[in-house]
Amino acid sequence: MIVKNLDNTHLAQIVALHEEAFKGFFLSELGTSFLKQYYKAVLKNINALNLGVFDEKNQLIGFAVTAKKSLGFNKTIIKENFFNFFTEGLKIIFSRPKAIYRIIKNLDKKSKDVKNDSGEYCELLSIATHPKKQGLGIGKLLLSETEKQLKAEGFTLLALTTDFFNNDPVVRFYEKSGYTIYYDFKTYPNRKMYKLIKNI
Ligand SMILES: CC(C)(COP(=O)(O)OP(=O)(O)OC[C@H]1O[C@@H](n2cnc3c(N)ncnc32)[C@H](O)[C@@H]1OP(=O)(O)O)[C@@H](O)C(=O)NCCC(=O)NCCS
Repeated sequence: MIVKNLDNTHLAQIVALHEEAFKGFFLSELGTSFLKQYYKAVLKNINALNLGVFDEKNQLIGFAVTAKKSLGFNKTIIKENFFNFFTEGLKIIFSRPKAIYRIIKNLDKKSKDVKNDSGEYCELLSIATHPKKQGLGIGKLLLSETEKQLKAEGFTLLALTTDFFNNDPVVRFYEKSGYTIYYDFKTYPNRKMYKLIKNI
């Protein structure tokens, strides 16, 4: 296994792995074309840290993408890639009109009710291990490499959001790596989430 920084040449593999690992999740249901634009935008943003784990055949078997500055990250990538997101948005308006409203309402992945959440931290946007390779330490490796690189750049806090319900194994996975529950909150329309955080 080898850990490498990801770039646009890995886009197709990232999207395929996302679709395998996040079946039934909201972002996956927006379709392959939306996912491609999303990850393309993340990969080219200067404030993103994108790491992948590759096997001996150079296949991507795990990835983690992180915003070095959580605050305003989603809005920034939309601004930077406005035409592409606008085109994707038009497609979604026709296929799943309510989804657009949900995307807009959830652009900030934090609670507006939690007054002391300044958003002044790095944020893990997505982490996945290929379903056939889970439980082998790949997720743990991705977290520790991400933390190491962020720390080297002077960052001190890494946060993430994850589902509140039916998600104990994933919450435990993060807790084993030193993350603690910061608070819980609801995203639109009614999805309860945890925000976890670690002092790296
Ligand atoms: C969550 C995920 C990234 C974990 O990756 P992974 O490569 O399977 O995790 P690791 O093998 O590195 O496990 C690290 C530790 O967490 C534990 N763990 C991981 N997944 C677990 C599970 N489903 N149930 C129980 N424990 C689990 C491991 O036992 C291990 O513990 P140890 O350090 O005591 O040995 C992976 O399960 C995944 O891709 N899930 C689908 C996508 C997802 O939900 N991502 C998170 C969204 S917030």
